[in-house]
Amino acid sequence: MSQCKVIAVANQKGGVGKTTTTFSLGVALAKEGKKVLLVDTDPQGSLTLYMGWRDQDKLPITVADLLEQSAEGRNIEVEESILHHNENVSLIPSNLRLSVLEPVLYSAMSREYLLKNCLEKVKDNYDYILIDCPPSLGTLTVNALASADSVIIPMQSQYLSAVGMTELLKSVNKARTKLNPQLKIDGVLLTLVDKRTNLSREMKVQLQENYGRVIKIYDTQIPLAIKTAESTSTGQSIFDYDKNGKVAEAYSSFAKEVLESGKERNKNASTKVR
Ligand SMILES: Nc1ncnc2c1ncn2[C@@H]1O[C@H](COP(=O)(O)OP(=O)(O)O)[C@@H](O)[C@H]1O
Ligand SMILES: [Mg+2]
Repeated sequence: MSQCKVIAVANQKGGVGKTTTTFSLGVALAKEGKKVLLVDTDPQGSLTLYMGWRDQDKLPITVADLLEQSAEGRNIEVEESILHHNENVSLIPSNLRLSVLEPVLYSAMSREYLLKNCLEKVKDNYDYILIDCPPSLGTLTVNALASADSVIIPMQSQYLSAVGMTELLKSVNKARTKLNPQLKIDGVLLTLVDKRTNLSREMKVQLQENYGRVIKIYDTQIPLAIKTAESTSTGQSIFDYDKNGKVAEAYSSFAKEVLESGKERNKNASTKVR
């Protein structure tokens, strides 16, 4: 069995910190000695941009090409598509071409497994693959959910949306029933937390009351800090841009929580085998 853990970072709402979390968690895991591949599945290509590839239209091979090759049963050039960032994480990039491809994918056979097919080819080279999802519950997010072992849900602390959460959980449940019986929800990560207000504390209580029985709410919360927004135009992660800042510290402790839950998982897996 592959030792690689595939995590989808998903929430259909935009601006909740999915892309920042994917990049920062990826770098934090790499700092812990893990081999990490990040996958940009957003046609906007924000992750690709945050990691410093600005001229996205010129990228020779993107996730759009891989999905198309997968849909057409051709050779999938996954290895060739992978870019290397100097903070020890690799990336399958994306660009806007993915948005014109989505309707094409929709009519492909086994359209939900196109990404999974791509990732299978390189899975053994990594400890973690993190998939940055687009802000929708469409074909691309479904592909991410079909590929993943688990889901991390970043959520902006000021805007807890019960409807949004219900829709997201429905999608995850549907993916689990129809496509991927192993799929788990790892937990909810509160992001953009403004410590000056009590909202985040209230929200944590609310979340805990409404969903705490079914979903873990991570102890770590990601604070709001302007430097994080600044870092996105530099190609550097927060660990490079503001390495002693509180956001770097938070993502570092978040990575430790993620690693811990991985250990739990392995323990459970081995008890099951016995
Ligand atoms: N902890 C933070 N503090 C301040 N700004 C942040 C933080 N995390 C993310 N941002 C900014 O908020 C915006 C949305 O974040 P992003 O990660 O792109 O969200 P999503 O991928 O969910 O749309 C970006 O401009 C990003 O730089
Ligand atoms: Mg994003």
